Amino acid sequence: MTAPAVNPARSAFSSELAALSVKPLWERVMRRAPGTGAVPAQWRWSEVKPHLMRAAELITTQEAERRVLMLENPALKGTTFATTTLFAGLQVILPGEIARTHRHAPNALRFIVEGEGAYTAVEGERVTMRPGDFVVTPGWTWHDHGNVGAEPVVWLDGLDTPFANLFGAHFREDFPQETQPRSRADGDAGARYGANLLPLEHRGSGRPSPLLSYPYERTREALERLALSGGPDPAHGYKLRYINPATGGHPFPTMAVFMQRLPAGFAGARYRATDGAVFCVVEGRGSATIGGRKFDFAPHDVLVAPSWEWVEFRAAADSVLFSYSDRAAQEALGFWREEAA
Ligand SMILES: [Fe+2]
Repeated sequence: MTAPAVNPARSAFSSELAALSVKPLWERVMRRAPGTGAVPAQWRWSEVKPHLMRAAELITTQEAERRVLMLENPALKGTTFATTTLFAGLQVILPGEIARTHRHAPNALRFIVEGEGAYTAVEGERVTMRPGDFVVTPGWTWHDHGNVGAEPVVWLDGLDTPFANLFGAHFREDFPQETQPRSRADGDAGARYGANLLPLEHRGSGRPSPLLSYPYERTREALERLALSGGPDPAHGYKLRYINPATGGHPFPTMAVFMQRLPAGFAGARYRATDGAVFCVVEGRGSATIGGRKFDFAPHDVLVAPSWEWVEFRAAADSVLFSYSDRAAQEALGFWREEAA
């Protein structure tokens, strides 16, 4: 459908309406296909890491509160967001540093990129962070980070901030002290929710996952084992989604989180879906062609596949990709669609 031709009387009419903050719908260009203003993008670890380390020299965690380089989509300048619905940032914390305790409405995930010895404390429990681990910080939970190790630790922060902003519900608050008291033993959430068991009193809800950490060791083994029983999915390779163990749903009400393995030589079929996604390469080398643009990837690179852009993976070496997207929210709202070529 094309917009009707504009004639002088209609133009004058439209101008009159404009004064009343009213617009004729028939002059609007109709949306023909899904998608957003975000564009496919890549941040190469080899290029970003030196700047991250430079940031560690230039600003302390005390000054910065969180020493994060935000990965802003080139087509969404001024928003600080990687897609129209997701935030992505690389955070670095040096040995001995503390990132003080705060809480905020947006849900956050941490995907550990490099380094050992850091922890995230969530509501009184310290969660050790190791490369490849996925750590949950549910919205409005007190959290702080610290590095008790001997090397810098870097992780990818993924947040649903644009949702909180859209709803006008973005609250934040500082804890009175820098570090919150430890009220639960390390591994408490894992014992309660991470052993295919649930506390007796637990009632399922669509809230974020009560399991705070999903260690890479277990995820990697699961992906490896899948290959023993059959071939890869034509588009995704061996791909699993992380769950809220109390519901079987996504770990966040807004964000879906995934890990996939592309065996060496994998040449994936084209695929697209309405969820915009942020990928972080864990292992391997290959390429991702997103919306017609080819990106060669290497470990720790971050890529963005916006909504409804065709994605096609190739793996030169055995590769593992972590990703998160807004699929959880889209499914809950009934918007999510996919298409395989
Ligand atoms: Fe935070």
